[in-house]
Formats: sequence, structure tokens, C-alpha cells
Amino acid sequence: MSREVRITPSILNANLDDLASEIRRIAEVSDLVHLDIMDDQFVPNFTFDFEAATKIVKESVLPVDAHLMVLDADRIAPQYAQIGCTSVTLHVEATKDIAQTLKAIRSEGARSGLAVKPNTDIADYADFSDLVDMFLIMTVEPGFGGQKFMFDMVEKIQRARKIIGSRPIWLQVDGGISEETIEIAAAAGADTFVAGSAVFRSHDPAQMVAKLRELALSVPE
Ligand code: DX5
Ligand code: ZN
Repeated sequence: MSREVRITPSILNANLDDLASEIRRIAEVSDLVHLDIMDDQFVPNFTFDFEAATKIVKESVLPVDAHLMVLDADRIAPQYAQIGCTSVTLHVEATKDIAQTLKAIRSEGARSGLAVKPNTDIADYADFSDLVDMFLIMTVEPGFGGQKFMFDMVEKIQRARKIIGSRPIWLQVDGGISEETIEIAAAAGADTFVAGSAVFRSHDPAQMVAKLRELALSVPE
């Protein structure tokens, strides 16, 4: 059986003045588009308010994978499912009732994602596996694009893969994914790859997405 790979480019480093066109540039070769929502509280950066995010989701030709780096994820996450995001990921560090919020995301028809920052152990959240459609292992401190992949997260990716076992849960990595690092993350067990600056700072974003996919697929299962 061939390895399953999804590339989910992040538009954080795209041209924010014309995101609909930026998304169209990578649409043919990408699985979903990764939308980073930051509130300047959970992370020291701000991206889009709910109104702006809604407009992006409505105009996007690709299904949207929302990554919520916000406090009050319990209240906000279901709203992102309601506006039509295909996948909504919350941070364990920002959520009071994780089980309830994961269920709320699913009941609004979206896939539920659970993210951990670099200092958070995934094993502590293994019990949520039956409520989760995707685990997200942050491979940088969340907040900014263009940071370096943290190689000490490789072991955590491997641990998450073991926790998933035979469940159909996607394993996403986010932060510093590039031509240099994607194979390392894939070999550790990741199957869903966020890439921001590697894609949108390259001269041909679509070609870069294709290249990243090829590299991830080249890793033996
Ligand atoms: C960072 C965001 C990432 C970011 C990745 O907190 O969650 O999705 O856009 O950017 P790169 O790929 O440049 O590290
Ligand atoms: Zn992200």
C-alpha cells in the first residue's frame, strides 16, 4: 500500500492583500489550505478576526484547515466549523473542555484536530484519540512563519504515530517544513504537512507543493 500524504500550505506568508488568488495558485496541487488564526493572546501575533476569516473561507477554492492559536478555543472552534472549515484544530493548552469542544466541531460537520506546542507531551492527550480526526505536532513555537524545524520534535511525532495505531487519524506537522525537513517528518510518521514560507516564498508555489509531496511520498512506510 502506498503512503498517504497531504500537503496543506499555510497562507501566513502569502500575499495577504489577495488571498483568494494566492489560494488559487496552489489549488490544483494541494489537499487543503491551512489557515492560521492568531489572537495576540495565546501567541504574540495577530492574523485574522472572525469576519476576515469567514471571507477567506467562503472565497477559498480549497477546503480550509483552520489552526486556532487563540484563547477561548471552546467558544471559537465550533464557529469555525459552522462557517464551513473542513477541519478545525484547537490547542490543548488553550481549551478548557477538550472533549466537549472536539465533539462540538464534529457535530458541526468538520474534522476535529488537536494540537500540542513543543513543550506539551502528546501522551497526556492520547485518551482523546476517539474524538480526534487529526493530531497536530507543532515543530516550532506557534506564532510566526519562517522559523526553523525543531529536530527534537521527531521523537514526539514517532510517539504520536504509535498512539494513533490503526485509527484513521491524520498526523500533521507544522513549522519549518521544507525540502530539507519533510522527509524526516514523514519518516517519523507524519502524513499531513503544513508548509508556509517554503511554499509562498518560493518563485513557483505550485511546483514547490508538488516537490514536497514527491519527497514525502519517497519515504518508505
Ligand atoms: C506558525 C503557524 C504555521 C506557519 C508555518 O505558528 O502555525 O502554520 O504558517 O510557517 P512555516 O512553514 O514558514 O514554518
Ligand atoms: Zn499553523
